[in-house]
Amino acid sequence: MISHPGISVMKEEADEIVSYLLKNNLVEKKLKIHQNGNYVCIPVRAQPGYLIGNMEVARYDFSTRINGRKPYEEILGILEKSGVNGSSVPKRWITYGDSVILKFLDNTEQIKSIAKAFMEVLKCKSVYEMKGGVRGRNRIPRVKLVAGKGGETRHLENGVIYVFDPERIMYSPGNVNERHHFLRLIRGGDTVIDMFAGIGYFSLQIARHTDAARVYCMDINPEAIRFLEKSASVNGLSQYVEAMVGDCRVTKPELRGDLVFMGNFSSIDYIIHGIQRLRSGGGIIAHFLVSSEEIDTYSDRINYMIRRLGRRSSVEDLHRVKSYAPNLWHMSAYIRITG
Ligand SMILES: C[S@@+](CC[C@H](N)C(=O)[O-])C[C@H]1O[C@@H](n2cnc3c(N)ncnc32)[C@H](O)[C@@H]1O
Repeated sequence: MISHPGISVMKEEADEIVSYLLKNNLVEKKLKIHQNGNYVCIPVRAQPGYLIGNMEVARYDFSTRINGRKPYEEILGILEKSGVNGSSVPKRWITYGDSVILKFLDNTEQIKSIAKAFMEVLKCKSVYEMKGGVRGRNRIPRVKLVAGKGGETRHLENGVIYVFDPERIMYSPGNVNERHHFLRLIRGGDTVIDMFAGIGYFSLQIARHTDAARVYCMDINPEAIRFLEKSASVNGLSQYVEAMVGDCRVTKPELRGDLVFMGNFSSIDYIIHGIQRLRSGGGIIAHFLVSSEEIDTYSDRINYMIRRLGRRSSVEDLHRVKSYAPNLWHMSAYIRITG
C-alpha cells in the first residue's frame, strides 16, 4: 500500500465520476481504485487540497497494480503459466457491475481457465461467454455462464443501478448515449409511456433525471418487468414508475401520455398504437433499423406511412445510435405528431 492523493465518492456515483476523471486524464492509473463500505476511493493526479468539481483531494492508501501492468497483461501472465495459448484470450470485454462478458474468437477448450483468470484479475463475481445475438421477441441474449456464481448483477449507468441477470436479459452497452439523448424533451409534470420498456433502460433514466410526473412501463416479458420493478425500488424511484406485463398494443388501452418511447426495432409497424396513446401536441421516440442507402429518405418514408394512417407528423432529430450489421444502422428519431 502507498499513500497517494485521491477522492472518496459515494459508490452510486463512482462510475460516472471515474468516466469524467478518465476523460480529463485525472486518474492515476498505476494505482487501484477500491471500495470501502459505501464509498469508492479513486487515485487522482492532483495535489491534496485541490478541488475537482466540489470534491476535495486528500491522501488515501492505495495498492499498486501488479508490476504496474494492465489487466490484460496480468491475465496473459497468469494463463501463460498454465500453458494457455494467448491468442485465444479476448482482448476486450464488457463489464456489467460485478460480471464480465467475453466473446471468444475461436472454439477454445480453455474457456474455463481463461474465465477464471479474468475473475482473478478483474475481481469479478461471474464471467459469461457471449455467443452473439438475441433470441425471440423477448430478446433473450445468447450469453452463457462460464465461471463464477452467475445470477443477478447490479450495473451502474448515469446515476441508475440496473438489476438484471446477464443470462436472462439483453443489455446493450452501445446504447449508453441514447438512453439520455431525449431526456431534454421531457417537461415537468409530463406523463411518459415506455411501450417496450425491457428492464427500464429508458424509463429509469427518465424517472431519475427528469421531472416527469409518472413513467408507465410495459413489456411482454414478465422477467424484464420483475427486474425493472426491483431496479426502481433499489434506486428509490418506485413512486414515479408503474410497470405492467403485457402486449403494449392492448395493455391499459385508456392510458395517454405526452411522450411515448418505442424502443423496439419494429416500432414503425406498431406506430399506430403509439399515436393512439398520445395526448395532443405529443411525440414518439422510435427506434428502427435502416440501411445506409435509406437514411436520407427515411424521415419522408415515416411521414408518408403516418399520413396513410390518417395522421400528420414531423420527424425530428433522426440519428444513428450504432452500427448494427454491415450497411445496417440502429437509428432513432423524435416523431412529433402534428395532426
Ligand atoms: C430491444 S428490447 C428493449 C429495448 C430497450 N428499450 C433498449 O433500448 O435497450 C425490446 C423489448 O420489447 C419487448 N417486447 C417485444 N414485443 C412487445 C410487445 N408487443 N409489447 C410489449 N413489449 C414487447 C421485449 O420483451 C423486449 O424487452
